[in-house]
Amino acid sequence: MKTPTPTAALLSWYDRHARVLPWRTSPEDRSLGVLPDPYHVWLSEVMLQQTTVAAVKDYYTGFLALWPRVEDLAAAPEEDVMKAWAGLGYYSRARNLKKCAETVAFELEGRFPDTEDGLKTLPGVGPYTAAAIASIAFDRPAAVVDGNVERVLTRYFEIMTPLPDAKPEIKARMAELTPVERPGDFAQAVMDLGATICTPRNPACGLCPWMDDCAGRIAGTAPSLPRKAPK
Ligand code: ADE
Repeated sequence: MKTPTPTAALLSWYDRHARVLPWRTSPEDRSLGVLPDPYHVWLSEVMLQQTTVAAVKDYYTGFLALWPRVEDLAAAPEEDVMKAWAGLGYYSRARNLKKCAETVAFELEGRFPDTEDGLKTLPGVGPYTAAAIASIAFDRPAAVVDGNVERVLTRYFEIMTPLPDAKPEIKARMAELTPVERPGDFAQAVMDLGATICTPRNPACGLCPWMDDCAGRIAGTAPSLPRKAPK
């Protein structure tokens, strides 16, 4: 049997081990290629920008219960949105969330742009969030790089350059690995690997689908990566 590519091996791991999260579609839908609603993906990714998955879950379901569609959020009084956001922190995100909902609902007929460049024009949507929405909601092979992805890829490729200088190389490596089919699942698979196995301390390398090829594990440097430039 042919050895699967690292990308195929990780997607197969994701099919078995993906975390169940409220903004994700079911494994059945994923196997059918059904994509999640862009409104759901956008809302979750904005909430996840500076906040942990555990903290975001209840806020995410609370927002969708109050405002099931982007038009509902656009029509909501700003103070209600700020109240529902209270506790999540970084309140400029909530103000931009409301502005972005208004733009999509009132200027774009309720449809999110379906490209990275188009998404970046929206309030509060930076390079990370645009790439995440483009890949997860629209199947675009954008290279999605967050802190988990940085840790996993600096270890896998044993990138010794400290952050932030290593960012362009990490982005290029992620672009090479990201498949044309299921790019959003692949991005979320790297995130899940970073959150559950390739953790900052004591990574569980023995459980990792990439362990045989991981340069950092082989060299013994993995737990010390990524390096960070002294402040
Ligand atoms: N962190 C940011 N986006 C995420 C996602 N879609 N799944 C898991 N963790 C994330």
